[in-house]
This record gives sequence, structure tokens and C-alpha cells, in this order.
Amino acid sequence: MITPKVGIPKQTKLFYGADYNPDQWQHSPEVLERDIKLMKQAGVTSASVGIFGWTALEPEEGRTTFEWLDRVMDRFAEEGMFVFLATPSGSKPMWLSEKYPEVRRVNQDGMRDRSGGRHNHCMSSPVYRAKAAQMNRALAERYQNHPALALWHVGNEFSGECHCATCRAGFQAWLKEKYQTLTALNEAWWANFWNHTFTDWSQVPTFDESIDGLGLDWLRFTNEQHVSFILNEMKPLRELTPNVPCTTNYMGTHEGTNYWQWSEHLDVISNDLYPMPDDREHTWKQSIASDFIHSMMRGMSGGKPWMLLECSPSSVNWGEINKLKRPGVHRQEVLQAVANGADTIHYFQWRKGRGGFEKYHGAVVDHEGSDRGRVYQECAAVGYELASLESLCQQDIPQAGIAIVYDWESRWALNASCGPKKAKEVHPYPSDIYTEACQAHYRALTVAGQSVDVLSAQSEFADYKVLVIPALYLVSDALGTRLQAFVDQGGILVGSYLTGYVDEMNRCHLGGFPGAGLRETFGIWNEEVDYLHDETEVLLVHNSGKPYPGVASDVVEVLHVESADVLARTGSEFYKGSPVITSNRSGEGSAYYLGAKLADASLSEFYASLLESHALSTQVGLPEGVVLRQRQSSQGTLTFFFNYKCTAQTIDLKQLRLREWASGEVLEGRMELEPYASYVCVDAV
Ligand code: GLA
Ligand code: GLA
Repeated sequence: MITPKVGIPKQTKLFYGADYNPDQWQHSPEVLERDIKLMKQAGVTSASVGIFGWTALEPEEGRTTFEWLDRVMDRFAEEGMFVFLATPSGSKPMWLSEKYPEVRRVNQDGMRDRSGGRHNHCMSSPVYRAKAAQMNRALAERYQNHPALALWHVGNEFSGECHCATCRAGFQAWLKEKYQTLTALNEAWWANFWNHTFTDWSQVPTFDESIDGLGLDWLRFTNEQHVSFILNEMKPLRELTPNVPCTTNYMGTHEGTNYWQWSEHLDVISNDLYPMPDDREHTWKQSIASDFIHSMMRGMSGGKPWMLLECSPSSVNWGEINKLKRPGVHRQEVLQAVANGADTIHYFQWRKGRGGFEKYHGAVVDHEGSDRGRVYQECAAVGYELASLESLCQQDIPQAGIAIVYDWESRWALNASCGPKKAKEVHPYPSDIYTEACQAHYRALTVAGQSVDVLSAQSEFADYKVLVIPALYLVSDALGTRLQAFVDQGGILVGSYLTGYVDEMNRCHLGGFPGAGLRETFGIWNEEVDYLHDETEVLLVHNSGKPYPGVASDVVEVLHVESADVLARTGSEFYKGSPVITSNRSGEGSAYYLGAKLADASLSEFYASLLESHALSTQVGLPEGVVLRQRQSSQGTLTFFFNYKCTAQTIDLKQLRLREWASGEVLEGRMELEPYASYVCVDAV
């Protein structure tokens, strides 16, 4: 369960700023003054400083040089601005990784990394843990009473894994604690298969893709290593600066990081998000994928505001095609995050460096160096607009009526299992067949005009009318019981293909899928699953025989109804006529099952009829790609709406009468939205 986050005591308006690297410009002190002037002019309130600055702070073991940082902290304080002070563990000093090679990661083949790169330290290394904690203590001692210090930015984008001897011993100890006996471990991992029975704890490796239970436990262990590394970093910070909140920046739905678990330990939730500037017909779907990730951050924050701690003000430099953002896109991305609960917008990066891997990455200030650039001008306009929205600051975000579960455990178990089809597309965000399923349902509900919360599988479901569990592959008996109780108490549950195949050890449920009691909940038996070639489309028909919009592809389950009613059937393939969309009444509620990966048109049809039959449809029917969000402010409700499409669209506001916040213009009836148009409005009286 996520407890609501505390926020940042010093925050009185929306924070606006960037990652700032004055450590790269120490020899040109005039740059700091120029930057501060440009920041003030653009409405900047804050900057994340020192993220990769360890050597600038400690050029040799035990000798510190904090003077440049003193100057930055002091100048920010003098200007009434704040620093999100980073702990510099994200990249190891060369002196440290050469003197203590054990801090460098070891890959699956046992090869140790060279020095250099970043985000590649061993999480278990006692030396690295001690050195990082020592540096953090020194930073906290020096700046504990500094008026500029608003937040600790712990490390940077933690991720990845290490297979060194220390990590392996740690994994074995973790398993011993969890399973107690080798018999229990061997049973959990079904180790008689291929003669994988362990007869001594020391035999257990960190990697063997043929042991699917090991794959899942290794990800859990690695995830916990990240959490324990972060806790170790936070210990001196919490001791010396109990009133300065700690965060670490997430990466949305990154594959190896179960952020639900991390969120239990942080004071504020923050995320980095880089939608690829695209500007093609399907780009609006990517905008909704961003919206999904923002909603998840809101969930992790327990309904409190969260921070967008990195995004690009223009292009990135790491894509295959690094396009510029088209006019309107940047403002839209910022306002989209705010509409979904962000109270901080920070960029990577304030100023482009002269050299290094990211010298062409988008920045507020270009190599040209002045305020004349298009990007700077756009950012300054956004800064001005965010300053006008201070009434949103520290305001809770209202709960939606519909929620989707996003569960890393299901994702990990599915990806560790050999057989299911893999995802075709992995852009713009790290994705896979599990994440795609969640995003497809979120998109269909968004297109149907709904706001959707994103929950973990451990969250409290009872307050929601509709709970969607796309491809919830791993379902323990306890979770199965909770889902059944949700339905019995009047909830509407929507499940999909690949639900309830395995237990928490990644072992298949016996007695027919979906397991853990969900066969009764949904009133169906999923006998077989057909994975299809990319070009295969399976037709769908309503139970009446009428064609059902769209098609199924990639994954089709062959279902039998037991107590459920059939809403739609397959219309082609040898299993033509098998149930594919079903509905089952149970207790006070209903459970719907969608036994195939459905095209957007089919999912939209399904949700339109589900929402209508449960009287949950929205009043304003917006075209696909136009999204409306509302957020409370200290001055009443703010309504945001966005045209995510690269083409103009016409909408009808029907009974809504709104007044645009910035211009005061009244909006009503039919109106034309420019490509990427964004509006922030209050109710017009
Ligand atoms: C990540 C990192 C930043 C920077 C950006 C570039 O988010 O945290 O340091 O490298 O990517 O897009
Ligand atoms: C080979 C092996 C079997 C089994 C099958 C699976 O034939 O001999 O043990 O793995 O492949 O297709």
C-alpha cells in the first residue's frame, strides 16, 4: 500500500527548472551569472545540481572541493531559487573505480566492466555503499541549514544488475531467507526439470534462463538491492536533514524496477519522461502512453502531486531519428503532466555541454548561449504560464472511478516464461506484451472520455467502480480472493488474455486457466492459447452474429463459458465460434473477460457498451485523440483539454461552458482545435 507522500515543505508554487551542470563550467565562472540571469528571465524556480559531480566534489580520495557548489547554492539562495541537491552516486569517480575494481559491475558471463560510463556500479559493493554514504554525509553536513536546499535527488535513474561474487552470495542468502530449505527452493523452481535440483546453496547461479522461477526471483532480488542501496544513501540525509524530502528519479515503466516497492520509501515521487518527438498520424497514441505513465506516478504518490524531474525541452540525442518538437508539442507535454498531477517540471538539461555524449541533447540554452533561441523562448513562455498556475500547488488529485492495475511481477513472470509471443514494437518507452496490454486498455478508456487511475496489485480496490487487470499473468491465491471479493461487493472487473496463468513462483496454476479462483470469477475456462503471425487477423462477431468492429491478433485464447454470457465470438480460424468476450455476474458485481488481443476499434466498442450499460459514460463525446482532464486548485476546478493529433479537430463542448485561464476567452459549443492545441480553463459562470 502506498502512503500519501509528504511533498516539499518549501514549495509555494509549481517548481520549474532543469538539470544544471555548473561542475562542467567551473573554469568559466561568468557562465553561472549568465545562467542565473537567463533562469530568472524564464521563470525558473529550481535546478537539480551535481548529479554527475562526484569528482568535482572529491577529486581524490578524502580531499573535498565544495567551493564551486557553495557558490551555486549561495547564488541560488540570493535569487530566491532552490536547489535539488543530487547525491553523485550515478557515476563513479575514475580514481574510485580503478582503486576499488569491485565497485564495477560484472555481466552474466563474468566479465567486469571497465571504468567510465555511468549508472553501472555494483549495488552490493560494501566499498561503494560506504563511499556513497560518506559523500552524502559530507553534503548534508555542509548544506543542512542552507536556504537553497529543497530536496535530495538521490542518485540518478537507478537500474540494471550485477553478477559479481558479492551479488551472487547476496542472492543465495536472500533465497535462503525466503525459502529456508533447499527442498522448498527446488520445489518452488520446479527444479527436477532438466535435472536442476540444487544440493547446496552455493550452487545457485544468478542467471539461468531455463529456470523461470530463478529469473523471477533474481529480478525481485535485484529490485530489492536497488531499494536497499537507496536506503543506505538516504540514511545520513534523513539523520542530518529530517525536513528535506528525498526522491530518486524513476523511468516510467522501466522493465527491471518495481517502483511500487520503491515508492514505499520515498518522500516525493519523481519521474523522467522522454516522449520521442514524432509528428506522425499515430503520435497521439504515444501521448496517451505518456498519460498512462503520469497516472501511475499519481498512484505511486498516493494521490499527492509528483514531480516530472526530467523531460527534453526539444529533441533528444539518443533516438534513431532525433526530430525537433513541433510548435505546440512542448507546451502540451508540460501541461499534460500538470493536468495529471505534476507540480514540478524540470528539463534535462539547462545548458548544452561543449563536449561529451550529450552535447547535442536538447537544452533550454543552446551552444549559442543567449535568450534568442526558439527553445529558450518557448520555455520562458511555459515558465510564465506555470507561474500563473500556482493555485495547483500542494493540492491533492481527485480519485478516478476506474483503475488499471500495472504489475511488474506479472510482467517479469511473463517475460521469464518461454512460449508467449514477444512484443513487436518497443517504442517510445521500454515496452513488452504485458505493458502493451495495459496501455491498450488505458488508451481505449481514455478515448471513451474517462480518467483512469493506475494501481498496484496490492492497492485497495474497493473505492473503484471498475477495475481493469490486463494480462495479469501472475495471480496468487490471495490476490485471486481479493479480486473475487471486489466483484462480489459490486465491482466491475475486466480481465484479458494471459490472466491468471501462474502463481507467485511462476508455476502454472493447475485445474484450468484462469487460476487462483478466477475461473469461477469470470465463469470461463481458457483451454488453449493461439499465438499468431503478425499478419494474421481473426474476425470477431457479436453473439447475435453481427460483425464486431475490429479484429483480434497476436494472442487468441480458446475459451469455454461455464457460468458467463457470451458477448462476442471468434469469426474465423478452426475455433470459429469460440467465445472471446464474456460477462459473468457474481455477487453484486460483474466480471468481463476478453480472451484475445483486440484491435483498438474492438476495445473501444467493448468499453463504450460496458460504460453505457453501467451508466458510466461521459457527457462530452470527444473525438479520438482529444482528451479532457480536471484537477482541483485552491481556486476551484481547472479543466485541461488537449488535441494530441497532428491534425486539426472539431469538438462540441455541449453543456460545458469554460473560460480560458490565460486569455479570459469563453469557450462553448463547437470549436476547432489546432494540431497539438492545449487549453487550461476554469468554469465560465
Ligand atoms: C536520462 C538521464 C539524464 C540524461 C537524459 C537524456 O533521463 O537521467 O542524465 O542522460 O536521460 O535524455
Ligand atoms: C528437443 C529435446 C526435448 C525437448 C524438445 C522441445 O527435442 O530433446 O527434451 O526440449 O526439444 O521441443
